[in-house]
Amino acid sequence: MIHLPAHLDEVSSFQAVEIFQAAKALEAQGRSVIHLEFGEPDFPTPEPIHQAAVRALGEGKTRYCHSMGIPEFREVIADYHNRKYGLELSPDRILVSMGTSLLMQLLMLLLLEKGDQVVLTDPTYACYANFVRIAGGEPVFVPIREEDGFQPDPEAVRRAITPRTRAIVVCSPSNPTGVVLRPEVMRGLAALGVPVISDEIYHGLTYGGAEQSILGITDHAFVLNGFSKYFAMTGWRLGYLIFPRPLLPAVMKLHQNIMISANEFIQYAGIAAMNEAVPICEEYRREYDRRRLFLVQRLDEIGLPLQYEPSGAFYCFANASRYGSDSIALAKDILERTGVALTPGVDFGRGGEGYLRFSYANSMENIGEALDRLEDYLKSREAKRSTG
Ligand SMILES: Cc1ncc(COP(=O)(O)O)c(C=O)c1O
Repeated sequence: MIHLPAHLDEVSSFQAVEIFQAAKALEAQGRSVIHLEFGEPDFPTPEPIHQAAVRALGEGKTRYCHSMGIPEFREVIADYHNRKYGLELSPDRILVSMGTSLLMQLLMLLLLEKGDQVVLTDPTYACYANFVRIAGGEPVFVPIREEDGFQPDPEAVRRAITPRTRAIVVCSPSNPTGVVLRPEVMRGLAALGVPVISDEIYHGLTYGGAEQSILGITDHAFVLNGFSKYFAMTGWRLGYLIFPRPLLPAVMKLHQNIMISANEFIQYAGIAAMNEAVPICEEYRREYDRRRLFLVQRLDEIGLPLQYEPSGAFYCFANASRYGSDSIALAKDILERTGVALTPGVDFGRGGEGYLRFSYANSMENIGEALDRLEDYLKSREAKRSTG
């Protein structure tokens, strides 16, 4: 018998992946499936990024490199942030590694001792709570509601803070809601005196005005960011952490042990992304926006109206509780009957139960077809309800 630690029991699996696997099984039987369950850009990685990686491979950039990231890449990241947000960030506050997920884990190992707490919203990105648990910590959830625009209330967060609280996690634009946090909410959270971990991986994907970095408000914060979403680079596994300068020795020590260094040639691709690919990614953003407006309108027409503005990322979080309070059962039934794959809201916490997450990282044509199928499904549910 191999003994596994008890805290692994608390780590939940990802329902989006389970739905994806069920969808794949249907496809294998020859069924037509439309995937709106995954948070992955459907656009290709822009060509200049590709070319930079190939060039770097040709030049033999395939070795271990500086544990914090190659110096020229960290300079480029600092410049990108300084230009975009009007900051004065120095490259020695940046750690480059292989994706935001890994960096989030490293951050929890940096901050937490057994029993320490991290405040999260509910609903929130599913992996955060698991990273806290894996590091021996305890997630503490503060509900956010659609009628408040899914904006956290800093006063409610204050009430959740205890002497064991080590951080508050925010994600704006948000997964799963697509909400961009209001500046006064960010300021209110930053004023609570607890370090803020700001997951800014959806920055760049906003449709109603620029988003704000937590670093424009406070330096008592950590920023997580990566290339998966805006730059359409999910499979490249590239991200970075920005941390308060005094933590450099501790951050470096942890990363040296966990990863030695990030992939060398992929960091050259990251340089090309920030220096050359923005015009292409802006085209992608405009297309996401067209899809977003269409999806919001169609959700309204089919009886799943949103009461909030999803103005970032590529998600809408629709309340489907009139069709059942069990979102896993509902998502499975929709998949079985229509071939439309959606993520059950409960994947993002108890506060997401009754909701379905729609990703519009799919073509307009597929979104249109998916919503037509869903409309028929919901109509037949309504018809059964009125006759039954
Ligand atoms: C909010 C959020 N953070 C982080 C990630 C993971 O990012 P990465 O691909 O950099 O590991 C995701 C992926 O869906 C996400 O939605």
